[in-house]
Amino acid sequence: MIKLTQPQPQVYLETYGCQMNVADTETVTAVLRRAGYSSATRPEDADVILLNTCAIREHAEERVIGRLSDLARLKRERPALKLGLLGCMAQHNRETLLAKAPWLDLVAGPDAYRRLPELLGHDGFDPAVDVRLDRGETYADLSPEYMAGVRAYVTAMRGCDRFCTFCVVPYVRGRERSVPPGAIMREVHALAARGVKEIVLLGQTVNAYRHDATDFGALLRQVARVAGVERIRFTSPHPCDMTDSVIDAMAAEPKVQPYLHLPVQSGSDRVLHAMARGYTVTHYLDLVGRLRRTIPALALSTDIIVGFHGEEESDFAATIALMRAVGYDSAFSFKYSVREHTRAHRLGDSVSEEEKGRRLAEVIALQEMISLEHNRALIGSEFPVLVEGPARRGAGRLAGKTPQFKTAVFPDTAAIKPGNIVNVRVESATGHSLAGVIV
Ligand code: 5AD
Ligand code: SF4
Repeated sequence: MIKLTQPQPQVYLETYGCQMNVADTETVTAVLRRAGYSSATRPEDADVILLNTCAIREHAEERVIGRLSDLARLKRERPALKLGLLGCMAQHNRETLLAKAPWLDLVAGPDAYRRLPELLGHDGFDPAVDVRLDRGETYADLSPEYMAGVRAYVTAMRGCDRFCTFCVVPYVRGRERSVPPGAIMREVHALAARGVKEIVLLGQTVNAYRHDATDFGALLRQVARVAGVERIRFTSPHPCDMTDSVIDAMAAEPKVQPYLHLPVQSGSDRVLHAMARGYTVTHYLDLVGRLRRTIPALALSTDIIVGFHGEEESDFAATIALMRAVGYDSAFSFKYSVREHTRAHRLGDSVSEEEKGRRLAEVIALQEMISLEHNRALIGSEFPVLVEGPARRGAGRLAGKTPQFKTAVFPDTAAIKPGNIVNVRVESATGHSLAGVIV
């Protein structure tokens, strides 16, 4: 057992980046809880502050560096405070981080969380650093401390083997590995018993899931058999791993919701090739056609990168054309950010910041228009909405999600509780949400 200076030291965790990081923070919380730590709700009260970080774009890293300098002030006031950096940025910047933030006590990559109690127990002058990647680590035996409300995120696979040329994930999260189905099912059963209604299976390329004979389609079917689980989603699938097995399971299992986040990145074959995405525009559009034929209610969202190295005006025009052709329900769009260690790093960064900004604004404006059009077309329709809680804006209203993962808001009535599924008739729409009444 590690000797701690206080009986119940308090740890404050802050999470940046994607859902995988949110899920990892839940694992970290479980590891530390077992080692005798309790949770602080404010950094001011904490004995240990940990930032679980993202390295996907430079901007994400800059935010964390800014936050670290704020927190350094707390550490000057209370030198016993331990400050640590976890996650993708810890892994990515392992060589330069301590020069940028010499006051850090701890640097731990995504495969080092099991060892956090020892790392925190380390009382030397030097910071404790553990950035070993471990192709076997799935944390399968560790039950996360879910912060779940009606929805919980369950890690199905970790890492990525795709090596898209722009992306740092394979370098910071390491090789692809799937959590044994037994461990996933144990978590799902426990969550269902706690009243969680919706399970979101997570992985960097989640539909590449495979453990012995269980592929992702089979996993979806297993989760669908759990009583109490009403809805199943997953994120993020890779277009190349969208097998018949997965599509058939989505079509056959009513609990698997008709919504897919299917990152396309670009609408130009030349750029897709330079990105090593593994598909052409034709492949992608064929897949979308097949999905829509098999799952007619399907809503689609995507990720788009503008200004990748070598992206000409004509390539960008092809992205705009693809967006119009697919008609996504929503899109997350990003300016290309060169990442060290990636294959595209040495290619360069041919598109100026201003031009990236212009292209991004065009993508965003187009998507706003398409989303608004789609949502307005839903006025008059009814959807089963899984109630989450009070709407962010507008007192006296509740909010939840439709099967297509659109936010729906409707008047609160005392009888309705989070976790209920209610039928909502849409009366008005914006590009971002639907408003209606319970029917
Ligand atoms: N620059 C900009 N966007 C990126 N993404 C991944 N790497 C980069 C990068 N270097 C985007 C992709 C991916 C999403 C999670 O982040 O669109 O799908
Ligand atoms: Fe990054 Fe490509 Fe892997 Fe997605 S599939 S995490 S974009 S390397």
